[in-house]
Amino acid sequence: MTEILYGNSKENLRKALSAQQNCRVAVITDTNTVNHCLPLVEDALPDNYLRVTFSHGEENKNLSSCEEVWDTLTEAKMDRNALVINLGGGVVTDLGGFCAATYKRGVRFINIPTTLLSQVDASVGGKLGVDFHGYKNHIGLFAEPEMVLIDPSFLITLPERELRSGFAEVIKHCLIADETQWKHLILNHYDKQDWSSIIPHSIGIKSDIVTKDFREGGLRKTLNFGHTIGHALESYYLNIPGKKLLHGEAIAIGVICEAWLSVEYNQMEKNQLIELQDYILDNFGKVKLDMNALDEVMDLMFQDKKNKGNTILFTLLNSIGSACWDVDLPQDAPVKAIGYYDNL
Ligand SMILES: NC(=O)c1ccc[n+]([C@@H]2O[C@H](COP(=O)([O-])OP(=O)(O)OC[C@H]3O[C@@H](n4cnc5c(N)ncnc54)[C@H](O)[C@@H]3O)[C@@H](O)[C@H]2O)c1
Ligand SMILES: [Zn+2]
Repeated sequence: MTEILYGNSKENLRKALSAQQNCRVAVITDTNTVNHCLPLVEDALPDNYLRVTFSHGEENKNLSSCEEVWDTLTEAKMDRNALVINLGGGVVTDLGGFCAATYKRGVRFINIPTTLLSQVDASVGGKLGVDFHGYKNHIGLFAEPEMVLIDPSFLITLPERELRSGFAEVIKHCLIADETQWKHLILNHYDKQDWSSIIPHSIGIKSDIVTKDFREGGLRKTLNFGHTIGHALESYYLNIPGKKLLHGEAIAIGVICEAWLSVEYNQMEKNQLIELQDYILDNFGKVKLDMNALDEVMDLMFQDKKNKGNTILFTLLNSIGSACWDVDLPQDAPVKAIGYYDNL
């Protein structure tokens, strides 16, 4: 099981590495985290550590970046006893973990998440992988990090828009599992939250669910709330110049759409939909969607890994704090939900 340590990452990394003997260490970063984050932990690394850096951004979360990583590990003759440290946001932890878990059939890895999104979500749970031919996380596997070292001081250099993106997953965790925390959350906007309490609480919800259902047989599907529509929008806009949506920005739209579905096709009360949509729009603003692109968005939705055959299966809310999964909806339901958002 993954050990999650919260606090000063340099100290925690030093402790983690002192327990390791005779293993080479590789640190995977992207072109931003190598500058902003590596200096915060570098003193704890052994002198001969290997640095691997690939270009930042979702558009580089692909197999050619993996090849770069595997090439560097191979040229440095890293063996199966090597330890990989993924230092970055969700792109680094997803891609670096995938590279580690497949290199020579798998070497151990530690995640040091440096974005809010990866600290509350992506760094824990063992879902690893990359995008492929425009489909999100299409190639990947499950493998868990040995440890996750969470340190909110990385967030100081994180751009505001990225911080807000991560906040979408904080919102999602409250909506599916904790109404009390939701009530507390909505007292402030994302830029006034107390991260030292929000982050451990949020990652706690995720790791609790993952521990109960690692292989996503049931309960873990609740974490997909907002992601069926959200992922399709994220994939579509990734390829439209100037319109790219960050993961959390797409999920924020998906949450409103799927909350609307929860009222239409499940038992959620309308006033809860209004409360959550007002809060999300206050924090994220309204995105102008291209309603002529719905066919393409629907094609992307049919590729969703949560589907069975030709049926799109949704996670819906029963009420704020409680979710259900595998809900089979009429074919036109997602288009209606996106239409609802568009009309807000
Ligand atoms: N595996 C999972 O369970 C899971 C869950 C949620 C999301 N994800 C994935 O996570 C990805 C999104 O993660 P993300 O939002 O962290 O994106 P990201 O990794 O692209 O990071 C966002 C940007 O911030 C930069 N950055 C990172 N840390 C920084 C810091 N401390 N200071 C300054 N800049 C910094 C990065 O270089 C990048 O440009 C998506 O690919 C999504 O699919 C995975
Ligand atoms: Zn997500």
